[in-house]
Amino acid sequence: MTQPIDSLDEELKRLLQEATETLAGAKEAAEIEALRVRYLGRKGILNRYFPLLGAEGRPAEERVRLGQRLNAFKQKLEQEIFERRQALKGQAGGAPHSEDLTLPGHPTAVGRLHPITRTIDEILSIFRSLGFSPVEGPEGETEYYNFDALNIPPEHPSRQSFDNFYLKVPPSEKGRWLLRSHTSPMQIHFMEANTPPFQILVPGRVFRRDAVDASHCFQFHQVEGLAVGLNLHFGDLKGVLVAWARGMFGPEARLRFRPHYFPFTEPSAEADLACIFCRGKGCRVCGQKGWLEILGCGMVHPAVFKAVGYPPGTVGFAFGMGVERIAMLKHGIEDIRLFFENDLRFLQQFP
Ligand code: PHE
Repeated sequence: MTQPIDSLDEELKRLLQEATETLAGAKEAAEIEALRVRYLGRKGILNRYFPLLGAEGRPAEERVRLGQRLNAFKQKLEQEIFERRQALKGQAGGAPHSEDLTLPGHPTAVGRLHPITRTIDEILSIFRSLGFSPVEGPEGETEYYNFDALNIPPEHPSRQSFDNFYLKVPPSEKGRWLLRSHTSPMQIHFMEANTPPFQILVPGRVFRRDAVDASHCFQFHQVEGLAVGLNLHFGDLKGVLVAWARGMFGPEARLRFRPHYFPFTEPSAEADLACIFCRGKGCRVCGQKGWLEILGCGMVHPAVFKAVGYPPGTVGFAFGMGVERIAMLKHGIEDIRLFFENDLRFLQQFP
């Protein structure tokens, strides 16, 4: 027979009252401890009630109620024991608190944003003021988005397995899966789903099978930019990037554009920043060149617009920059590995 819940309630109430009264009469710590063991100890009175929670034949809502009663009992008695102990201590020492309230507190460690996150935020905020909006894309891509739609032909060396992390999963109709090697595939995703004009930024992590050293890692971050709209030309691209560089590195910042090749832009360029350490004179950081290579850019190749079904004559520009490199230049950091090691001595230097 299961005991009716109301009678159990009564019983618990009585027990608590009894315990409270005994406690009030306790004169020393040992008495309190004995009482605690009697009621709350492992083999104590309260623990005899817990098996009733699982008893067959007791409806679920009664079990919930009983569980609440038992927990309340425990909490109430623990609190009273604590208070009684404090009170006894107070009598003994003559003061209500025996703690030394003048001791310094325990400091709490406050977290902060990672320097890479902060560099991304800074890059984005400058481009935002120039009318660009951030969007994010997937880190797992298919060959179509990572290469084909970007006009990177099958025989291009950058597609080889020694350069990429191909995933061991069945291929999709868009080709094999891999971890994206750049943020450019998001150009395609975005254009497939939107019509110009627009100016977007794509911050994110990218992956390449690079051997790790002071300036290379198998993962790093990029910020991609893409602007498509009426009459955009290379001058717009330069203007946007120069404005960004001044926002990022100060009003003295200078850029130079060197012709380069990317399959998805034509014409293409690499932009170098006049060395911010020697102001272009030549030093150790810039390898005596006076210039630091910081990004790739160009006018979007017509083949890319064709891949997303935009009409002939569409114009736009794109650029892509490595975040770690920019953070390293800005803060004089000499080893890219520091960003990924989670060493607090490094991270705490970015207040
Ligand atoms: N995707 C290129 C890279 O990773 C950078 C780039 C982006 C160049 C857009 C031109 C235009 O190297």
